[in-house]
Amino acid sequence: MLTQTELKQNVANAAVEYVLPFLKSDIILGVGTGSTVDLFIDALAPYKDRFLGAVSSSERSSARMAALGIQVFDLNQVPAMPLYIDGADEIDQGLNMIKGGGGAQTREKIVASVADQFVCIVDESKLVERLGQFPLPVEVIPMAREAVARQLVALGGQPALREGFVTDNACQILDVSGLAIHEPAQLEATINNIPGVVCNGLFALAGADVVLVSGQGGVRRLDKVAS
Ligand code: A5P
Repeated sequence: MLTQTELKQNVANAAVEYVLPFLKSDIILGVGTGSTVDLFIDALAPYKDRFLGAVSSSERSSARMAALGIQVFDLNQVPAMPLYIDGADEIDQGLNMIKGGGGAQTREKIVASVADQFVCIVDESKLVERLGQFPLPVEVIPMAREAVARQLVALGGQPALREGFVTDNACQILDVSGLAIHEPAQLEATINNIPGVVCNGLFALAGADVVLVSGQGGVRRLDKVAS
């Protein structure tokens, strides 16, 4: 029986295999955040001379890549990327996701928006029938925290401040449990429209394009079905 860490390692290795054909001397990759991505970065590092560098979604991933000799670019310098590789906290069959367990969902969504393809890398514990068991992370501007929290309660959620946590954007996170997420894209837009919300962790308006899922039997691939 493989442990969750071994499952994450397997999908990180599979992600490197997926990425290799895209690598060229002028290519910049988008790289996400989290424990699975940490393993992906480590596995990618031996190929660092085959591509130009990466844009990162967090200070954490930037530091890890820099330490391994992968050049990190500011997104403002980068007009296009073929791939964005990142984990998820939950993903459903429509490839909608909840992200932000690491509090990086705002930069993740920004970097992903510039990439041609979102490649999600997860172990099978992240696959769900319906999103919402994992509390939805909502990044808020600190002075708006209570005002946003009241609106989230009105939407049926129970927001809890992530204590002692400050995002890379100097903001705070409300982790919202109890939401009935029947229409992920609609809820993503509704929450993002609350004044004071920086970005919420639903990735449904633009979900994943490809998912690599690591299970006891190996890594399998799921592709977004064109609508
Ligand atoms: C970071 O903010 C998140 O969106 C991560 O992508 C997500 O939490 C997955 O992390 P793990 O790979 O550590 O499970």
